Amino acid sequence: MKSVLITGATNGLGASLTAQFAQAGLDVVAIGRKPHESANMPDGVRYIRADFAKVDNVTDLVEEIGHCPDCIVPAAVAYPNQDILFTDVAELESYYRVNALIPTALCGALLERRAPEQFAAAIFIGSESTFAAHRGSALYASTKAALRVLYQGLADANRSKNAAISMLMLGPLANEKKLSELSTLAKEKGVSDSDITKLFLRKSNRNLVIDELIDFESCRTCIEHVFALGPIANGMMCRLDGGSSGSLI
Ligand SMILES: NC(=O)c1ccc[n+]([C@@H]2O[C@H](COP(=O)([O-])OP(=O)(O)OC[C@H]3O[C@@H](n4cnc5c(N)ncnc54)[C@H](OP(=O)(O)O)[C@@H]3O)[C@@H](O)[C@H]2O)c1
Repeated sequence: MKSVLITGATNGLGASLTAQFAQAGLDVVAIGRKPHESANMPDGVRYIRADFAKVDNVTDLVEEIGHCPDCIVPAAVAYPNQDILFTDVAELESYYRVNALIPTALCGALLERRAPEQFAAAIFIGSESTFAAHRGSALYASTKAALRVLYQGLADANRSKNAAISMLMLGPLANEKKLSELSTLAKEKGVSDSDITKLFLRKSNRNLVIDELIDFESCRTCIEHVFALGPIANGMMCRLDGGSSGSLI
């Protein structure tokens, strides 16, 4: 893998992948919503600003990117408010746009651009939330479920085309916000961070069989692994989700 495109590059998983791949010497194009001044990109990373909620078609974005990178990792995500009312169609639709429609269209259009001899991979990020929806998570979970189906369609559309379209299904990530919330809670309860994390994982989803939040380095390792498999990974689902769906799915 020589070049990579990361969306959602200004925070969380996307920011970490951007830094890790830049550190490894890859040619990295990063997309985020923040202005350039506050995007805080590592040296050498080409940053493109785009608000997916406002993008109607991906033509201009694809032109700006200019080429199909070897690997595309769409990590941008919009999380709805926990107390969403489910009454505003435009609001509901915008989450589908950011979380499912734009990533699919962007990958589809970029893959169309590559030369037949270039192998390219698009590795979508799925979420364990699809297995257990409630008021606060249902809209988000449904956008990730849509993505789960769409990537399979894109994989079929890229059959026999020297490409691999796959999904990395993740469980709860060790992002800064979650780590700091758990640490604060641990102090309040007078227990260790490690004990409160185990408790959080058991309570958040009883199928989880891990004791730690999923770290960003392991996510990168999975992405590199899936990419290294080549076209045989087309349609693949790679799960680093702590067994979130239980035993039968
Ligand atoms: N967090 C978890 O525990 C977890 C668990 C399972 C799966 N996942 C998946 O992992 C991926 C990364 O999640 P995360 O929690 O690390 O994300 P995050 O920290 O919330 O970061 C979200 C990123 O998406 C960008 N973004 C948000 N709205 C956008 C828009 N309208 N247009 C363009 N970019 C937009 C943000 O850009 P700005 O900062 O510039 O606004 C930011 O870079 C997602 O696909 C998520 O579904 C996360």
